Amino acid sequence: MSNHEHQESAHRPVQRKEMSRRQFLSYTLGGTTAFMVGGAVLPMVRFAVDPLLEKKSASTFVKVVEESKITSEPQVFHFKVHQVDGWYESDAQLSAYITKGDNGIFALSPVCKHLGCTIAWNTLGKHEYNCPCHGARYTVDGKNLAVAPKPLDEYEVKIENGFVYLGSIKSNTRV
Ligand code: FES
Repeated sequence: MSNHEHQESAHRPVQRKEMSRRQFLSYTLGGTTAFMVGGAVLPMVRFAVDPLLEKKSASTFVKVVEESKITSEPQVFHFKVHQVDGWYESDAQLSAYITKGDNGIFALSPVCKHLGCTIAWNTLGKHEYNCPCHGARYTVDGKNLAVAPKPLDEYEVKIENGFVYLGSIKSNTRV
């Protein structure tokens, strides 16, 4: 480039890059569409994940039976628990074998730890829990004696105003 040409281009006015009408329409329509789709989709996403984001409430206890009815011989009691599983709410019927032990009242889950059948107390006259499905046996404390790989689960227990309250299920702490 000669010196003359260089001077000429330096004096030329700066040309701004103009947006074409087509580009303007594309940007405007694209932005509006994205805004409208976001407004419709975001509430749906929020609805879908909302139950998963809610904090789990602390373990709740359910009133089951008067303390005075509990004996050293295990007895089965049934009770209902309100459950919230994501979007689904239900009242589940649960059962527990409640017994008065040397260190207080305890409650065991009747679900066999082999394959989940329902156990029963002393059906064979040996003062044990027996499972009718494959013959699992458990002591009064829920210790597994045969077939089942683990002891029976235990409920959290709370005694208040003469009533037995049961909470969530935990691993057996007695054996
Ligand atoms: S389910 Fe109880 S022994 Fe198999």
